[in-house]
Amino acid sequence: LFEERKFLRVLSKQSVSPPPVWLMRQAGRYLPEYRELRTKAGSFWTMAMTPELACEITLQPIRRFGFDAAILFSDILVVPFALGLPVTFVEGEGPRLPAINSVDGLIRDPQAWLEALRPVYDGLAMTRAKLDAQTPLIGFAGAPWTLATYMAAGRGKDEQRAAKLWGYGDPLSFDALLDILVECVAFHLIRQLEAGADAVQIFDSWASGLPAAMFECWVIEPTRRIVEKVRTAHPDAKIIGFPRASTLEGYERYAQATKVDAISIDTAAPIHWAVRTLGGGFALQGNLDPIALIAGGDALLRATDEILDATRGLPFVFNLGHGILPDTPIAHVEQLLTRIRSAR
Ligand code: CP3
Repeated sequence: LFEERKFLRVLSKQSVSPPPVWLMRQAGRYLPEYRELRTKAGSFWTMAMTPELACEITLQPIRRFGFDAAILFSDILVVPFALGLPVTFVEGEGPRLPAINSVDGLIRDPQAWLEALRPVYDGLAMTRAKLDAQTPLIGFAGAPWTLATYMAAGRGKDEQRAAKLWGYGDPLSFDALLDILVECVAFHLIRQLEAGADAVQIFDSWASGLPAAMFECWVIEPTRRIVEKVRTAHPDAKIIGFPRASTLEGYERYAQATKVDAISIDTAAPIHWAVRTLGGGFALQGNLDPIALIAGGDALLRATDEILDATRGLPFVFNLGHGILPDTPIAHVEQLLTRIRSAR
């Protein structure tokens, strides 16, 4: 019985040995069963917005590997979509949406957000109903800053230049954009919790490369407000924050100020640093290099052991430092899981 729902116990700051494990982007192109379904469905967006398909894809990696948590198959760009921006995925190039430089025309009506996002909540509820009761289901959203970078550039672009130019050049209207995003992201997380999500993760994938003062207003403060809103609606909500590739000082400040339950750290953040600095007050998640998982062999085992050794006795969730890559061999995922599960 004590083996149950290890992932949620870790988010409550208990240490569990061996640690629970899931992988960011665990439902995706490295799985033949995913590629097969995608060929049939036609597009990624169709799959994400069709509840039965999103549910099936969410369950695929759980059936194959028995991960300790499932993450809903969806995308961070469903929030800009709910705000009225059509999102498309160009094969091999990633997402495209109309680039905006003002908030004029963005949809601010929560009833309309609900209509647009209903397939996500239906898919989540369906998944929760089908998933084994012992396996927690994670909902998620992009953080306002990362979403703003896509909305300002119309795509995921280098250096987040368009969003920075907007933020520096017209801070009032950029703050208005972040305000709308705070509302819509909080709404989206709350709805996912109500549809059956057991925890939520906030992805700030483009949190790197910001001056400290901008990191404070564009990354930390919007996220702090979202956490506050989610906890007002659901005081016990478990929230993981992922300000990817922030400075170490940035991670620390983010953790203290936003009050998330867990911090997901990227590949470059030293695990010993994270343990020393955050290990007491926060659950930690991370941070195997996705390329070490592709490499496999001794390098993979060494990197895995280093993380396991550093985090022993602490509330810790084993994960990657960023999403699993499409060319990852399935045998290496199995090798990783065997190693983690034989750890003490
Ligand atoms: O983790 C999971 O398995 C859940 C599903 C999930 C997806 N995207 C599915 C997806 C999650 C949590 C995301 C988050 C996401 N989406 C982020 C934050 C995490 C990160 O990686 O930094 C970002 C920045 C996006 C935006 C996005 N969506 C991009 C840049 C791309 C193209 C990337 C690529 O590799 O082609 C997507 C598409 C996408 N989202 C795919 C998947 C499985 C690939 C779709 C396909 O071609 O089949």
